[in-house]
Amino acid sequence: MANIQRTQVLVLIIISLLSRIALLQAETIALDVHPNISTLKSIVRITNRLGDGSTLNLHCKSPDDNLGLKILAPNKSWSFTFRPNIWGTTVFYCHFTWSEGHSTHFYIYDDIRDGVHRGIPCIYCFWDISKDGPCRFNQATDAFDICYYWNGDPKQ
Ligand SMILES: *[C@@H]1O[C@H](CO)[C@@H](O)[C@H](O)[C@H]1NC(C)=O
Ligand SMILES: *[C@@H]1O[C@H](CO)[C@@H](O)[C@H](O)[C@H]1NC(C)=O
Repeated sequence: MANIQRTQVLVLIIISLLSRIALLQAETIALDVHPNISTLKSIVRITNRLGDGSTLNLHCKSPDDNLGLKILAPNKSWSFTFRPNIWGTTVFYCHFTWSEGHSTHFYIYDDIRDGVHRGIPCIYCFWDISKDGPCRFNQATDAFDICYYWNGDPKQ
């Protein structure tokens, strides 16, 4: 008799655990169908606008991905796509070098600055790299006028 009761209790515990797992899965699926959060793919495009015929060397990384060294001739572009994580912590950090030993860094994507629900959102994050710093394309003005200093401070 005691054994049967124990079995029943065990069955009840298992059922309640399973239903909790089912609920958790339902929440995850609900998040997945939200197009702006987890099905969204962003693109970063980087164009060499150094402007004096210099080649731009760049090397971008996130904590998870090393995108390798890229070499851009004048006015040439390179791009990569990625899925920003749902925690809003996605960053891509790039090291830029060009003629005469110039060497500098910039967060080419920072979810706090660029994420869809954050600062100045972008899905198509197009950047022109000049000697004075990077400028991002602004859909509202149709110009590359969202500009930053190399240290990341906004110019406006
Ligand atoms: C979210 O997605 C909907 C439907 O695709 C779209 O209309 C809306 O503009 C998006 N919002 C943002 C902030 O991207
Ligand atoms: C790059 O583009 C600028 C502006 O359009 C142009 O003046 C320049 O000649 C171009 N340079 C090369 C190497 O194509």
